[in-house]
Amino acid sequence: MARKTTHSIRLMKKKGKKIVMLTSYDAPTAAILSEVGVDMILVGDSVGNCLLGYESTIPVTLEDVIHHCAAVSRAKPDCLIVGDMPFMSYKISTEQALENCGLMLQEGGAEAVKIEGAGPVADIVQSVVDAGIPVMGHIGLTPQSIYQLGGYRVQGRTADMAGKLIEQATQLEQAGAFSLVIELVPSETAKAITEAVDIPTIGIGAGPYCDGQVLVLWDMLGLFEDFKPKFVKKYANVRDLIKTAVTDYANEVRNGVFPDEEHSFEMTEEESGRLYGRIKPPE
Ligand code: KIV
Repeated sequence: MARKTTHSIRLMKKKGKKIVMLTSYDAPTAAILSEVGVDMILVGDSVGNCLLGYESTIPVTLEDVIHHCAAVSRAKPDCLIVGDMPFMSYKISTEQALENCGLMLQEGGAEAVKIEGAGPVADIVQSVVDAGIPVMGHIGLTPQSIYQLGGYRVQGRTADMAGKLIEQATQLEQAGAFSLVIELVPSETAKAITEAVDIPTIGIGAGPYCDGQVLVLWDMLGLFEDFKPKFVKKYANVRDLIKTAVTDYANEVRNGVFPDEEHSFEMTEEESGRLYGRIKPPE
């Protein structure tokens, strides 16, 4: 498969081809996503919930995401790698945003960054894009503003609120964003946004009309069970697979079944004889 670029992702919308994005935080899963032809990998700040044991994405640091993004990029996937800019890593000043987005590319190996929000954030997006860094926007439910939004609630339920989201999407498109995540909005709202902009929209909990979809890999594999949003479809129950494998291993160790001959190494008979010849039999 040819390596995906921001250009090829934009072209997919024009050609009416759906875009597939998933999160990954490590080299082995990044390699699998590449092998099966996923278009984009998001190294999301959801790493905080999925791998680091946090209850939200707020405590996730730039160093955390860069560390995991670098692991993903070492797998050399054909997918476009998008590094998620964590809480307060881009809002303090344009200088801060430019420096930190630059680090996501230089140290994390990302090929684009994702930035939550619009309004004043659109100016920041414009500066980052002007510096040559591709930006994916993110509107609707923006988890880094969870305390301000009052929880994980569906956004854009009214025509007025949907209108505001369309304005935000247009603002981000004008600022140069190459694509846009739309999270947790009614299908009709996502459809209206998708029709209003030329850049691809990537939905999560936003219904079927977006140009592409993203899910958190840990959720769709059934690995992460603390939080079960309605929009997550479980494609596997990897948690149960792991539990069965670990229980079988523990039982075999406790019963002396593992390791068996097949999984052990042997000396030659001669060396074994010499070794045991040295050991005095018990008196
Ligand atoms: O961090 C993440 O995984 C995300 C997706 C939910 C879009 O931002």
